[in-house]
Amino acid sequence: MPTPQEPAAAVPRHVAVIMDGNGRWAQRRHLPRTAGHRAGIKAVRATVEHSVRRGVGALTLFAFSSENWRRPADEVDVLMKLFVEVLGREVDELAEKGVRLRFIGDRSALGTRSVEGMAAAEERTAGNERLLLNVAVSYGGRWDLLTAARRMAEKVRDGALDLDALDEAAFGRELQLGDCPDPDLFIRTGGEHRISNFLLWNLAYTELYFCDTLWPDFDAADYDAAIECFARRERRFGLTSGQVRGAR
Ligand code: IPE
Ligand code: IPE
Ligand code: MG
Repeated sequence: MPTPQEPAAAVPRHVAVIMDGNGRWAQRRHLPRTAGHRAGIKAVRATVEHSVRRGVGALTLFAFSSENWRRPADEVDVLMKLFVEVLGREVDELAEKGVRLRFIGDRSALGTRSVEGMAAAEERTAGNERLLLNVAVSYGGRWDLLTAARRMAEKVRDGALDLDALDEAAFGRELQLGDCPDPDLFIRTGGEHRISNFLLWNLAYTELYFCDTLWPDFDAADYDAAIECFARRERRFGLTSGQVRGAR
């Protein structure tokens, strides 16, 4: 007897992660919230390494949202400094592992050092194909949609695009992850059950997985649990279960 939910693919091609819970991790230890952000770096490393190990093709990490700018200035400051520091320190190892780094988000809001570090890391790893690592910094799903809509409107206005040619595929290509297949699996740590303005368009049919583990504690075993749960899901994309299983 076949199992009732035969997975289409056991390992997701693209995993998107909201790395949440750093502040609470620190507060539980009577440490400043920023100590949680620092502790979260280990989990980022483990997640990247395990993605490579499991054969995940693309990993998109939500590091800093458009709304996170509204946090206390000292926390934002530490996060930005940490970002530049980690980027400088980790890029060699990522390059060696065959990781291609790419950043998505509104760079106009970032400082010169961040922008330069990002461009250098992207250039340095551009030829790598083992894992595409998208890091979302100063990113918001609504900003992404609005930016794409503006660009499309400009093209139509300038006569570079026929309005009739504006379909889902054409619009999707204008988004920050336009060249990437949609995420198969979304993971949010930290116990909250929301999307928090992450990839609003791209997550339309993504399998959602929420866990209570705070981000600094997230490890390969937690990641495997998410992948295992994903492998048991039946992705129907609007069809019936019978259709998906090949019945008529
Ligand atoms: C996620 O952890 C990291 C960022 C948003 C930058 P939080 O800082 O949101 O941690 P909690 O949710 O307050 O515990
Ligand atoms: C989402 O987490 C953003 C990142 C993890 C970078 P938040 O902690 O900012 O989300 P909310 O405010 O709880 O929705
Ligand atoms: Mg949070």
